Amino acid sequence: KVPSVLNQKTIIITAGPTREKIDPVRFFSNHSSGKMGYAIAEQAKELGASVILISGPTSLAPPAGVTFVPVESAEEMYHEVMNHFDKADIVIKSAAVSDYRPKQTFDQKMKKKDGSLVIELERTEDILKRLGEKKGTKLLVGFAAETENVEQYALHKLNEKNLDLIVANNVNEPGAGFQKDTNIVTIFHRNGEKKAYPLMSKKEVANAILREIEKLLKGE
Ligand code: PMT
Repeated sequence: KVPSVLNQKTIIITAGPTREKIDPVRFFSNHSSGKMGYAIAEQAKELGASVILISGPTSLAPPAGVTFVPVESAEEMYHEVMNHFDKADIVIKSAAVSDYRPKQTFDQKMKKKDGSLVIELERTEDILKRLGEKKGTKLLVGFAAETENVEQYALHKLNEKNLDLIVANNVNEPGAGFQKDTNIVTIFHRNGEKKAYPLMSKKEVANAILREIEKLLKGE
Protein backbone atom coordinates (compact mmCIF):
# COMPACT_ATOMS: atom_id res chain seq x y z
CA LYS A 1 0.00 0.00 0.00
CA VAL A 2 1.34 3.47 -0.92
CA PRO A 3 1.69 5.63 2.20
CA SER A 4 -0.55 8.69 2.33
CA VAL A 5 0.99 12.13 1.74
CA LEU A 6 -0.46 12.90 5.15
CA ASN A 7 2.01 10.46 6.70
CA GLN A 8 4.31 12.49 9.03
CA LYS A 9 2.32 15.68 8.48
CA THR A 10 1.19 17.56 11.58
CA ILE A 11 -2.53 18.38 11.62
CA ILE A 12 -4.37 20.51 14.15
CA ILE A 13 -8.03 19.52 14.37
CA THR A 14 -10.49 21.45 16.50
CA ALA A 15 -13.71 19.79 17.62
CA GLY A 16 -16.73 20.14 19.86
CA PRO A 17 -18.49 23.19 21.25
CA THR A 18 -17.12 26.00 23.35
CA ARG A 19 -18.62 27.08 26.65
CA GLU A 20 -18.86 30.76 27.46
CA LYS A 21 -19.21 31.30 31.18
CA ILE A 22 -21.99 33.42 32.67
CA ASP A 23 -21.48 32.44 36.31
CA PRO A 24 -20.19 29.30 38.13
CA VAL A 25 -23.27 27.27 37.14
CA ARG A 26 -24.28 28.67 33.74
CA PHE A 27 -22.83 29.07 30.25
CA PHE A 28 -23.74 29.69 26.62
CA SER A 29 -22.90 26.84 24.26
CA ASN A 30 -24.24 24.90 21.27
CA HIS A 31 -25.19 21.37 20.21
CA SER A 32 -21.81 20.16 18.90
CA SER A 33 -21.01 16.64 20.14
CA GLY A 34 -17.48 16.55 18.73
CA LYS A 35 -18.30 13.52 16.55
CA MET A 36 -17.32 15.20 13.27
CA GLY A 37 -13.97 16.49 14.53
CA TYR A 38 -13.07 13.31 16.41
CA ALA A 39 -13.80 11.24 13.27
CA ILE A 40 -11.40 13.43 11.28
CA ALA A 41 -8.77 13.08 14.03
CA GLU A 42 -9.11 9.29 14.04
CA GLN A 43 -8.92 8.94 10.25
CA ALA A 44 -5.98 11.37 9.97
CA LYS A 45 -4.13 9.32 12.60
CA GLU A 46 -4.88 6.15 10.57
CA LEU A 47 -3.20 7.80 7.57
CA GLY A 48 -0.04 8.36 9.61
CA ALA A 49 -0.47 12.03 10.46
CA SER A 50 0.64 13.48 13.76
CA VAL A 51 -2.65 14.81 15.15
CA ILE A 52 -3.21 17.55 17.71
CA LEU A 53 -6.89 17.46 18.72
CA ILE A 54 -7.99 20.68 20.43
CA SER A 55 -11.46 20.04 21.77
CA GLY A 56 -14.19 21.76 23.69
CA PRO A 57 -16.12 19.67 26.25
CA THR A 58 -17.60 16.45 24.78
CA SER A 59 -18.49 13.01 26.11
CA LEU A 60 -16.17 11.30 23.59
CA ALA A 61 -12.87 9.58 24.32
CA PRO A 62 -10.02 11.05 22.27
CA PRO A 63 -8.78 8.63 19.58
CA ALA A 64 -5.67 6.63 20.57
CA GLY A 65 -2.34 8.19 19.69
CA VAL A 66 -3.46 11.79 19.20
CA THR A 67 -2.16 14.71 21.26
CA PHE A 68 -5.27 15.81 23.14
CA VAL A 69 -5.70 19.41 24.28
CA PRO A 70 -8.97 20.01 26.16
CA VAL A 71 -10.35 23.56 26.29
CA GLU A 72 -13.59 25.22 27.42
CA SER A 73 -14.01 28.68 25.95
CA ALA A 74 -13.40 30.24 22.54
CA GLU A 75 -10.61 32.27 24.12
CA GLU A 76 -8.86 29.11 25.41
CA MET A 77 -9.29 27.45 22.01
CA TYR A 78 -7.79 30.52 20.34
CA HIS A 79 -4.73 30.41 22.61
CA GLU A 80 -4.16 26.66 22.19
CA VAL A 81 -4.55 26.81 18.41
CA MET A 82 -2.03 29.67 18.31
CA ASN A 83 0.35 27.77 20.67
CA HIS A 84 0.48 24.81 18.29
CA PHE A 85 0.08 26.64 14.95
CA ASP A 86 3.80 26.95 14.07
CA LYS A 87 4.36 23.19 14.00
CA ALA A 88 1.22 22.43 11.96
CA ASP A 89 1.13 21.75 8.21
CA ILE A 90 -2.66 21.66 8.14
CA VAL A 91 -5.45 23.06 10.35
CA ILE A 92 -9.01 21.70 10.20
CA LYS A 93 -11.50 23.75 12.20
CA SER A 94 -14.53 21.56 12.77
CA ALA A 95 -15.25 23.02 16.22
CA ALA A 96 -18.45 24.99 16.72
CA VAL A 97 -16.90 28.07 18.29
CA SER A 98 -19.13 30.56 20.03
CA ASP A 99 -19.23 33.89 18.21
CA TYR A 100 -20.23 35.76 21.38
CA ARG A 101 -19.53 35.58 25.11
CA PRO A 102 -21.01 37.46 28.06
CA LYS A 103 -19.29 40.80 28.47
CA GLN A 104 -19.36 40.36 32.21
CA THR A 105 -18.99 37.08 34.14
CA PHE A 106 -19.86 36.52 37.79
CA ASP A 107 -17.87 34.64 40.46
CA GLN A 108 -21.03 33.86 42.43
CA LYS A 109 -24.26 32.33 41.16
CA MET A 110 -26.58 35.05 39.82
CA LYS A 111 -29.76 35.27 41.91
CA LYS A 112 -33.12 35.58 40.22
CA LYS A 113 -34.88 38.89 40.33
CA ASP A 114 -38.31 40.06 39.20
CA GLY A 115 -38.63 41.07 35.58
CA SER A 116 -36.49 40.26 32.61
CA LEU A 117 -32.73 39.92 32.53
CA VAL A 118 -30.42 41.35 29.90
CA ILE A 119 -27.00 39.78 29.37
CA GLU A 120 -24.75 41.83 27.15
CA LEU A 121 -22.59 39.82 24.77
CA GLU A 122 -19.32 40.69 23.10
CA ARG A 123 -17.65 39.07 20.09
CA THR A 124 -15.09 36.34 20.57
CA GLU A 125 -11.97 36.12 18.46
CA ASP A 126 -12.61 34.59 15.02
CA ILE A 127 -9.87 31.96 15.29
CA LEU A 128 -10.03 30.82 11.69
CA LYS A 129 -9.93 34.37 10.37
CA ARG A 130 -6.81 35.07 12.42
CA LEU A 131 -5.21 31.88 11.07
CA GLY A 132 -6.10 32.96 7.52
CA GLU A 133 -4.15 36.19 8.06
CA LYS A 134 -0.96 34.29 8.93
CA LYS A 135 -1.40 31.03 7.04
CA GLY A 136 1.70 31.15 4.83
CA THR A 137 2.06 27.75 3.11
CA LYS A 138 -0.14 25.90 5.61
CA LEU A 139 -3.41 24.36 4.45
CA LEU A 140 -6.48 25.78 6.17
CA VAL A 141 -9.79 23.94 6.19
CA GLY A 142 -12.91 25.48 7.68
CA PHE A 143 -16.45 24.30 8.20
CA ALA A 144 -19.63 26.25 7.60
CA ALA A 145 -22.67 25.25 9.65
CA GLU A 146 -25.61 26.92 7.94
CA THR A 147 -29.40 26.69 8.00
CA GLU A 148 -30.04 28.59 4.71
CA ASN A 149 -28.14 30.02 1.70
CA VAL A 150 -25.52 27.34 2.35
CA GLU A 151 -23.39 27.84 -0.76
CA GLN A 152 -23.43 31.63 -0.60
CA TYR A 153 -22.46 31.79 3.08
CA ALA A 154 -19.85 29.03 2.72
CA LEU A 155 -18.14 30.78 -0.20
CA HIS A 156 -18.16 34.04 1.73
CA LYS A 157 -16.36 32.31 4.66
CA LEU A 158 -13.90 30.61 2.28
CA ASN A 159 -12.84 33.99 0.89
CA GLU A 160 -13.14 36.09 4.03
CA LYS A 161 -11.06 33.67 6.11
CA ASN A 162 -8.51 32.90 3.34
CA LEU A 163 -9.14 29.13 3.39
CA ASP A 164 -8.06 26.39 1.01
CA LEU A 165 -11.21 24.34 1.57
CA ILE A 166 -14.54 24.78 3.28
CA VAL A 167 -16.84 21.96 4.29
CA ALA A 168 -20.45 23.15 4.29
CA ASN A 169 -23.26 21.37 6.08
CA ASN A 170 -26.88 22.42 6.24
CA VAL A 171 -27.56 21.62 9.89
CA ASN A 172 -31.33 21.73 9.27
CA GLU A 173 -31.21 18.75 6.88
CA PRO A 174 -32.25 15.41 8.35
CA GLY A 175 -29.14 13.25 8.87
CA ALA A 176 -26.77 16.23 8.82
CA GLY A 177 -25.01 18.41 11.35
CA PHE A 178 -24.91 18.38 15.12
CA GLN A 179 -24.94 15.17 17.21
CA LYS A 180 -25.73 12.74 14.38
CA ASP A 181 -23.48 9.86 13.32
CA THR A 182 -23.99 10.97 9.71
CA ASN A 183 -23.53 14.18 7.77
CA ILE A 184 -24.29 15.64 4.33
CA VAL A 185 -21.56 17.98 3.13
CA THR A 186 -20.40 19.95 0.14
CA ILE A 187 -16.69 20.72 -0.12
CA PHE A 188 -15.69 23.97 -1.86
CA HIS A 189 -12.10 24.64 -2.99
CA ARG A 190 -10.66 28.11 -3.34
CA ASN A 191 -10.17 27.42 -7.06
CA GLY A 192 -13.93 27.14 -7.51
CA GLU A 193 -14.13 23.34 -7.51
CA LYS A 194 -17.22 22.03 -5.71
CA LYS A 195 -18.09 18.50 -4.60
CA ALA A 196 -21.47 17.60 -3.12
CA TYR A 197 -21.63 14.31 -1.20
CA PRO A 198 -24.65 12.19 -0.31
CA LEU A 199 -25.58 11.23 3.26
CA MET A 200 -22.53 9.43 4.69
CA SER A 201 -21.23 8.39 8.09
CA LYS A 202 -19.02 11.00 9.77
CA LYS A 203 -16.14 8.55 9.30
CA GLU A 204 -16.75 8.55 5.53
CA VAL A 205 -17.09 12.35 5.51
CA ALA A 206 -13.78 12.56 7.39
CA ASN A 207 -12.10 10.40 4.75
CA ALA A 208 -13.62 12.48 1.92
CA ILE A 209 -12.19 15.67 3.48
CA LEU A 210 -8.78 14.05 3.98
CA ARG A 211 -8.78 12.84 0.35
CA GLU A 212 -9.33 16.41 -0.86
CA ILE A 213 -6.46 17.57 1.36
CA GLU A 214 -4.21 14.81 -0.03
CA LYS A 215 -5.02 15.98 -3.55
CA LEU A 216 -4.07 19.56 -2.67
CA LEU A 217 -0.79 18.40 -1.12
CA LYS A 218 0.02 16.41 -4.25
CA GLY A 219 -0.80 19.45 -6.38
CA GLU A 220 -3.59 17.60 -8.21
O1 PMT B 1 -19.75 18.05 16.62
P1 PMT B 1 -20.89 17.38 15.86
O2 PMT B 1 -22.09 17.14 16.76
O3 PMT B 1 -20.43 16.13 15.13
O4 PMT B 1 -21.41 18.40 14.74
C1 PMT B 1 -20.61 18.74 13.65
C2 PMT B 1 -20.68 20.25 13.32
C3 PMT B 1 -22.07 20.61 12.84
C4 PMT B 1 -20.31 21.08 14.57
C5 PMT B 1 -19.60 20.48 12.20
O5 PMT B 1 -19.92 19.69 11.07
C6 PMT B 1 -19.50 21.95 11.82
O6 PMT B 1 -20.21 22.45 10.96
N1 PMT B 1 -18.55 22.69 12.47
C7 PMT B 1 -18.42 24.15 12.33
C8 PMT B 1 -19.43 24.84 13.19
C9 PMT B 1 -19.31 26.34 13.12
O7 PMT B 1 -18.99 26.96 14.08
O8 PMT B 1 -19.53 26.85 11.94
P2 PMT B 1 -19.58 28.45 11.62
O9 PMT B 1 -20.14 28.51 10.24
O10 PMT B 1 -20.23 29.20 12.71
O11 PMT B 1 -18.04 28.84 11.61
C10 PMT B 1 -17.26 28.86 10.43
C11 PMT B 1 -15.84 28.40 10.71
O12 PMT B 1 -15.16 29.38 11.51
C12 PMT B 1 -15.73 27.07 11.44
O13 PMT B 1 -14.64 26.34 10.88
C13 PMT B 1 -15.44 27.49 12.88
O14 PMT B 1 -14.65 26.51 13.55
C14 PMT B 1 -14.66 28.78 12.69
N2 PMT B 1 -14.81 29.76 13.78
C15 PMT B 1 -16.04 30.28 14.09
C16 PMT B 1 -16.16 31.23 15.08
C17 PMT B 1 -15.00 31.66 15.77
N3 PMT B 1 -15.09 32.55 16.75
N4 PMT B 1 -13.80 31.12 15.46
C18 PMT B 1 -13.68 30.19 14.47
O15 PMT B 1 -12.58 29.71 14.17
